[in-house]
Amino acid sequence: MAKAASSFICASCGASHKKWTGRCDACGAWNSISEEAPLSAGPASRSLGSAKGRRIELSTLASRETPPPRAVSGLAELDRVLGGGLVAASAILVGGDPGIGKSTLLLQAAASFACAGLSCLYVSGEEAAAQIRMRAERLRLADAPVQLAAETNLRDILTALDTLRPDLVIIDSIQTMWADNVESAPGSVSQVRAACHELVSFAKKRGASVILVGHVTKDGQIAGPRVVEHMVDTVLYFEGERGHQFRILRAVKNRFGPADEIGVFEMTGGGLAEVANPSALFLSERGQASPGSAVFAGIEGTRPVLTEIQALVAASPLGTPRRTVVGLDAGRLSTILAVLEARCGIPFAGMDVFLNVAGGMRVSEPAADLAVAAALLSAREDIALPPDMVVFGEISLSGALRPVGQTENRLKEAQKLGFSQAVAPERSKFDDGGKMRVRKMPDLTTFVGEMFAAG
Ligand code: TYD
Ligand code: MG
Repeated sequence: MAKAASSFICASCGASHKKWTGRCDACGAWNSISEEAPLSAGPASRSLGSAKGRRIELSTLASRETPPPRAVSGLAELDRVLGGGLVAASAILVGGDPGIGKSTLLLQAAASFACAGLSCLYVSGEEAAAQIRMRAERLRLADAPVQLAAETNLRDILTALDTLRPDLVIIDSIQTMWADNVESAPGSVSQVRAACHELVSFAKKRGASVILVGHVTKDGQIAGPRVVEHMVDTVLYFEGERGHQFRILRAVKNRFGPADEIGVFEMTGGGLAEVANPSALFLSERGQASPGSAVFAGIEGTRPVLTEIQALVAASPLGTPRRTVVGLDAGRLSTILAVLEARCGIPFAGMDVFLNVAGGMRVSEPAADLAVAAALLSAREDIALPPDMVVFGEISLSGALRPVGQTENRLKEAQKLGFSQAVAPERSKFDDGGKMRVRKMPDLTTFVGEMFAAG
C-alpha cells in the first residue's frame, strides 16, 4: 500500500492542502500553512467499509432522560455562563489573550469546585507547581483540595487520569500538550487536535468534565481554532481591555445552555472578584451630564447591561479624518456616520471622531446604533443628553429606527438603576406599567429634531 502522504494544514482555518503555499486558498491567511503527518497511517487509513463494524443501538426522540446533573461552583458568574453549572462528561474550551487571567480564573474555579465536593486536578503545561502554589497563596486558596501537576506529556497525563479518576480536569493550556504519537511540534494543529480529541474522549468515557485553556492568536482566534471549537461542548472566551480591570467571560457556544451569556469579573490584587451588577459598575465612572455621552440599555445573553457610550468629535487637521473606535465595530460607526450625513444632513467630514464604550465593555448588538448616534450628535452639537435617559434602537440605512428585542428588560434594568426616561424606536412593544417615560421615535431625523433642536 502506498505510504499516506503528509498534508499541509492551515493553522488558521484547518483546511488541508496538497502542497505548501504562502497563502491559504481557503481563508486567505498568510504564512499559516505547515506540513503535518497524517492522523493515522497504516491499516486505519484503509476504507472503513472493508470490514464490518458492530451494530449501533437506535433509540427514539421520545425517550425520557433526566437532564445532565450539574455541579455548581458557587462562583455565580461562572455558573451562569456555563448554563447553570458544570455538566458531567463535558468538555469546555476557555479562550483568551495571554495574560488576561485565564489561569487565575480556572484556579479559582478549581478551588470552588473542589470545595463544593468535586475532585479536581489542575494540569499546567506552562507553570511549575511552585508557581501555581504561589498564585494560590495570593488568591488565598492554598487550603483548597486541588491536585496539581506540571506536565505536558499527554500519555502520562492520561495514565494519571485513568488512575485518579477526577471529576474535573483543567488543562492549562491545550497548546502546550504534547502527544508522542503525533509527529509535529507542540502547538501545531495536529498536536492540538490530537490532544483535544484524547481529552474529550476521556471526558465522555469517564463522565468527567474537562476544561481546556486555549491561547488566542494575534488576530483573535484560538490557535487551531475550528478544529478545537467543534470538538468541545462549550466555548467560552475570556476578554477584557488591557488597562481595565473588568473581565468578561462570554459563552460563544454552549450545548448545555444559552450562548452569548456573559459573566463579569473584576481583576483585583487578590484575584478575580465577581461583579453581580455590571450595569452599576460600568456606569459608576459617569459624572455629571456632559456632551458626548449616551447610556445604552443593552442585552448580553439573558441579562440586561447598561453601558455608557462616549464620543468626541473635533475639527481634524488631517486630510483623512481619524475614526477611532474602542469596544464597538468600526464598520458600524462608518455606517451610522453615513446615515447621519445622507438622511439627516449632518456631515462629519473634516472632523475626527473618537468612540468608546466606557469600562472596557464590548458591545456588538445592533440595538446600540441609536445610542452611538446620540453620543455622536451630542458631542458634535455640544449638547448634553438628559442624565436620566437611556437610548436603544437599530438604525436602518434609510434612517428609520427598527425595534429591538427585550424592550421590557432593558427598561426595567434602566429603571432599577435610577433612570426615568428612554428613547426607543416607534414600533417597540412593551408593557412596563408606565414607570418610565418612553419617547418613541420613528426615524433618526425625528430624533435629531427632538433632542438637538437647538443645534
Ligand atoms: P493569568 O491568569 O496568568 O493570565 P493567563 O493565564 O490568561 O495568561 O493572569 C495574569 C495577570 O493577572 C497578570 O498580569 C497579573 C494579574 N493578576 C492580578 O492582577 N491579580 C491576581 O490576583 C493575579 C493572580 C493575577
Ligand atoms: Mg496562564
